[in-house]
Amino acid sequence: MIEQFKADVANGLSATPKSLLSKYFYDEIGDKLFVQIMHMPEYYLTDAEMEIFEHQADKLATLLAPTTGTFDLIELGAGDGTKTVHLLKELQKHREFCYKPIDISSHALASLKDFLQSELPDLKVETQQGDYFEVLKGIADNGNPKAILFLGSNMGNMLDHNAKRFLSSLDNAMNAEDKLLLGLDLKKKREVVLPAYNDAAGITKAFNLNLLTRINNELGGNFDVDSFEHAPEYNEEEGVAKSYIRSKVDQEVRIDSLGESYYFEKGERIHMEISRKYNEEILNAILGDTSLVLQEVIKDSKNLFADFILTKQST
Ligand code: AVJ
Repeated sequence: MIEQFKADVANGLSATPKSLLSKYFYDEIGDKLFVQIMHMPEYYLTDAEMEIFEHQADKLATLLAPTTGTFDLIELGAGDGTKTVHLLKELQKHREFCYKPIDISSHALASLKDFLQSELPDLKVETQQGDYFEVLKGIADNGNPKAILFLGSNMGNMLDHNAKRFLSSLDNAMNAEDKLLLGLDLKKKREVVLPAYNDAAGITKAFNLNLLTRINNELGGNFDVDSFEHAPEYNEEEGVAKSYIRSKVDQEVRIDSLGESYYFEKGERIHMEISRKYNEEILNAILGDTSLVLQEVIKDSKNLFADFILTKQST
């Protein structure tokens, strides 16, 4: 774990242009900052998808559950379950199923279990801790039909070719009647997207800069965090938001555990994260030659966000 972190930081900071990986945002402080981001007025994504789950759970349930018999509802990167609980309640009315949340954080899984125990004491839950690129092993076939949830525009952090690979492995893990729900932020105007990654309270800035603090703490770095600034961008044509942090001065940063120093010119940026925005056309291009096809698109009332329901193409 720490060895991988070291290698990824060393690679990213010696590359031109410099970059770091957004998956490393989520240490204990990063997790808390992300919760705060979700509550920022500018960060519309969470509220929009929550509205879909609150108001259209019956539709989601009908689309995801097989017509008869039991099934597994698998959630990748389940988090706190506050959206999914609406779907679970709906499904519990007339379906037999097992809820299988998978998350990288065992802490998140433990509190999710507690939350569901109190909300839905009769629900069958089987948690699994792990990375969602490794989850496919967790989705080992037990013969039950399955519906897979991947919410929150988490796929937006993947470059298109990685999203392609990811969807193709999901495709391989799915059988003919299985369903996939992808929650994705929709491509839209800069005036709406950019503030979501540049909130006035500065939480997203702190979220990005926290990765430098993490490098200081875990890898013996000496980043002077205040000498970097947050500089997000959004390319409206492409539909891709990118977060950068930019050095305010010429400076050298030492990272002891890597035995290296890195030089930053004034104005030089470190690429931190991409957040891809989708529409049907973009998603279809990424689905490429998988056997997954779009069955239904469910949007919130403001058309900000969509839950895309995918099935295997019947041949
Ligand atoms: C958790 C990947 C959906 O890209 O919108 C929020 C992460 N980064 N603000 C996103 C994030 C900065 C978020 N996702």
